[in-house]
Amino acid sequence: MYFCDMIKKKLYIETFGCQMNVVDSEVVASILQEEYEITQNAEEADLYLFNTCAVRENAEKKIWNKLEHFKGIKKKNKRLKLGVIGCMAQHIGKEFEKDTVVDLVAGPDAYRDIPTLLKESEIKDFVSNTELSLTETYDKILPIRLSNEDISGFVSITRGCNNFCTYCIVPYTRGRERSRNADDILREVEDLAQNGYHEVSLLGQNVNSYKLETENGVIGFPELLAMVAEKFPQLRVRFTTSHPKDISDELIQCVADHKNICNHIHLPVQSGSNKILKAMNRKYTREWYLNRIDKIKELIPDCSITTDIFCGFCGETPEDHQQSLSLMREVHFDSAFMFKYSEREGTYAAKKMEDDIPEDVKTERLNELIAVQNDLSLESNRADIGKCFEIMIEGKSKRNDNEVFGRTPQNKVVIIADENFKPGDKVNVVITKATSATMFGEKVNHA
Ligand code: 5AD
Ligand code: SF4
Repeated sequence: MYFCDMIKKKLYIETFGCQMNVVDSEVVASILQEEYEITQNAEEADLYLFNTCAVRENAEKKIWNKLEHFKGIKKKNKRLKLGVIGCMAQHIGKEFEKDTVVDLVAGPDAYRDIPTLLKESEIKDFVSNTELSLTETYDKILPIRLSNEDISGFVSITRGCNNFCTYCIVPYTRGRERSRNADDILREVEDLAQNGYHEVSLLGQNVNSYKLETENGVIGFPELLAMVAEKFPQLRVRFTTSHPKDISDELIQCVADHKNICNHIHLPVQSGSNKILKAMNRKYTREWYLNRIDKIKELIPDCSITTDIFCGFCGETPEDHQQSLSLMREVHFDSAFMFKYSEREGTYAAKKMEDDIPEDVKTERLNELIAVQNDLSLESNRADIGKCFEIMIEGKSKRNDNEVFGRTPQNKVVIIADENFKPGDKVNVVITKATSATMFGEKVNHA
């Protein structure tokens, strides 16, 4: 082999959307590693990939704006290849064909095909693969971690989703739900542990439906979670996302029983109104959701509970919206991701239901959700003043160089004075002050 054959081309991946996409970008980097090495400098890239999200229209708009900007860059750099991968590629891949700036499109199940697509793109203007698969789980591909500063790594345990919430594009962009092999999952966690990571998050659209049939019986999510926590006692273990219809007492007990599984459950409620939950095909009621919350609070009294909730879904009346606000207060969420409904082409809601809430009403309702949550977050943080937590240091505080920040197991951010701490250090702190977004603490010598 000549020396020049060994020089790898440079790959830059920009990731948008959820944590699942972060892992997918790492999988793609791994698939391309024979020919490409990752660069953190976008300007020297030979191949620039956008790993995209399609959950809301805004996410797609962002990518169109970025592509506009690339027209000029590609004029100057003729050898640069540009690819769009991920959910938006799957959702509207064809539209990129008209857009001369994009060379390659690959959906979430087509990443193994990217090397072949790249070869084809040497002779074609546009190449694409958006086949969905019933089996692809990228087993045996060890993701290449793209950031060397992280202390926390993600491992996907399921791919796809079978729930078909009427508003959601994910079952169409990511296909049917598949559970990954437990041995592969453990191997990936092991790889993280060996590479100095201190925390692992197990990821899936609905982790509670993890199910693997083996010779020795079925492994469900509580068993998998316990396996990870027990095999890697040095790691903090998190998981997301749980679907309220599937979160079992057994899972909650498993979190309660393992010290290194963080006491934080993210449980997207989406709406507080039974009528809207039904229209969304969420398959649970407000009462069921509150029952699950009671169980969490009973078995894990110091568990933080966070949620996703959105307003302005088809047919949402002022009363339905009030039900969302009252549910937020009743649960007393520690924090929440809040959105306005965004109609997605191809979903059941887009086909069969009217997007009938005016934009200004959606905005007004979203502001109300945010105002309520700000109060709840502030109360939640203030209630921690005087309490002790073990935080894991993540890095320097953005505001002040003499301070560092870390997270409690409940996933709350705490800022403390720096005493030469390193990322990953565990420090016992007492909370002294709080805002709705951040807590401030002081180091103590005991938990
Ligand atoms: N419009 C607004 N929000 C949505 N989400 C999913 N689909 C839509 C949509 N069409 C939100 C849900 C989900 C989170 C990831 O995004 O709250 O839990
Ligand atoms: Fe979308 Fe519902 Fe699946 Fe979540 S559970 S990814 S909201 S279809």
